[in-house]
Amino acid sequence: MNLKRLLVVTVLLLSVLVAPFANSAAAGGPPHKVMNIAHRGASGYAPENTMAAFDKALQMKADYFELDVQMSKDGKLVLIHDVTVDRTTDGTGRVGDLTFKELRRLDAGSWFDPAFAGERIPTLEEALDRYRGKIGILIEIKNPELYPGIERKVAKALKKRNLHKPRNGKIIVQSFNHDSVKKFHRLLPSVPVGVLISYRDEGISDKELRNFAKYADYVNPNKDMVDRSLVKRIHRFGMKTTPWTVRDRAEADRLKSIRVDGIVTDYPDYVHPR
Ligand code: G3P
Ligand code: CA
Repeated sequence: MNLKRLLVVTVLLLSVLVAPFANSAAAGGPPHKVMNIAHRGASGYAPENTMAAFDKALQMKADYFELDVQMSKDGKLVLIHDVTVDRTTDGTGRVGDLTFKELRRLDAGSWFDPAFAGERIPTLEEALDRYRGKIGILIEIKNPELYPGIERKVAKALKKRNLHKPRNGKIIVQSFNHDSVKKFHRLLPSVPVGVLISYRDEGISDKELRNFAKYADYVNPNKDMVDRSLVKRIHRFGMKTTPWTVRDRAEADRLKSIRVDGIVTDYPDYVHPR
């Protein structure tokens, strides 16, 4: 083979070898793995914050499910989103004014679909016992200002099951109440924590991100606040982001394309790779 032919063959070979890497670089690096987080369980398909919704999340192969924890009048950690039971059960009244026995009597499934009649309000402990090791659990401490001591109780439930050990990984605790997040972090520093941010036009400043980074692992804003620049800034401060709440496929695709770390969704099938 003369020198010219050898050169042409080498260039051709090199271009074949390098092509796949060039393509992935052009697309912004290797394929991006995003955590698929079922919001209040797979709540598009089953009544939110019930075992049926958590089972569905597991069955749909979500990486995590999210839940909302509050406290009954007699101090039990119960899973329900609203301050009152009115929307998601057949009862009325404030969660914190009802005993566990009273809460447990309520039907938490029929409002969603008669097929779910008889679903009960679960406790945090029941959810931890049933799902730990099978799927990640993103625990939102809801309205902690109404339930003094709730952080300590959540920490105790995790510790009792060794879920505070880093190797047991897939537990994250978050809240809109950042004092509560800090309090929990002081109690169990080995469990990753996140700050939730409600929608606001002014965005999130670097000063805030710097403060969050002192204790938080995640900054989780309303999805409508999240663009590529915010994701980059959160990453630059060494944190991750799992925006909420996705209810259409286009939005799931948009968030993936801007490289968020996780997507909180009522429909886990919208997030799976397509
Ligand atoms: O995971 C975040 C999301 O759950 C926060 O909003 O109102 O559904 O609890 P909300
Ligand atoms: Ca929530």
